[in-house]
Amino acid sequence: MTPPRDDWDATAYDDDHSFVYEYGRDLLEVLEPTAGERVLDLGCGTGELTAAVSDAGATAVGLDSSAEMIATAREAHPDCSFVRADATTFDADEPFDAVLSNAALHWINDQAAVLETVRNALRPGGRFVAELGGTGNVRAIVDALEVELADRGYDAADPWHFPSIGEYAPRLEAHGFEVRSAQLFDRPTELENGEQGLANWIEMFGGEFFEDVSDTERDAILEAVEDRLRPALFRDGSWVADYRRLRFVAIADALEEEQRELR
Ligand code: BEZ
Repeated sequence: MTPPRDDWDATAYDDDHSFVYEYGRDLLEVLEPTAGERVLDLGCGTGELTAAVSDAGATAVGLDSSAEMIATAREAHPDCSFVRADATTFDADEPFDAVLSNAALHWINDQAAVLETVRNALRPGGRFVAELGGTGNVRAIVDALEVELADRGYDAADPWHFPSIGEYAPRLEAHGFEVRSAQLFDRPTELENGEQGLANWIEMFGGEFFEDVSDTERDAILEAVEDRLRPALFRDGSWVADYRRLRFVAIADALEEEQRELR
């Protein structure tokens, strides 16, 4: 398994990529956190959604593998709890009523391990509400990077995993979840900083593509990627990334909980 990333720049994330958690606010309407519930925010980043869950009256715990993200989250939201941990090995000491995850699961290679973590963290009947990049997410950007890297003799290593509903629902079921809803939908997403938006996005999130590439060649590749994508993704002075989301609600050990209620 690839170790979780720990080189996130929390300031750049908040300054230039805040759409990640702004879009995630929609998920709270699906989660509907209530007062007194315990909610784990898996892959919490700088803790904006964790704080929103807490504002709804729930006890919110944010988890992230990045020390910098957790430090920023703690400073910005001193009333919430944050834990720095690996989502594939985290062991909750008290069960949660819900696990929320926004734009984090596609970074995790070991999906079996993270689904086991979530199941073990939830009480029977607890809900897992998540959104991640779905199949075809940022396909145009990945394709352009792969072509430009391959043209210069590099083997591109796409660091993400963007599943379809058909792939992910059986995975959830295999880990004891009942899938109550799953949607795959397009969400074209305007990147911040105008002309610089695409290069900034690739630098923030796509560092793995450039691991063996010199700085000079990296700049040339970024320019070539922009040229390739401009006709499709540059509109009215901004780059619009071809995001596609997979959003689902799944219940942990649902039948066990229903039978317990009937007794
Ligand atoms: C996403 O949220 O879909 C995403 C974010 C960064 C890199 C790749 C995908």
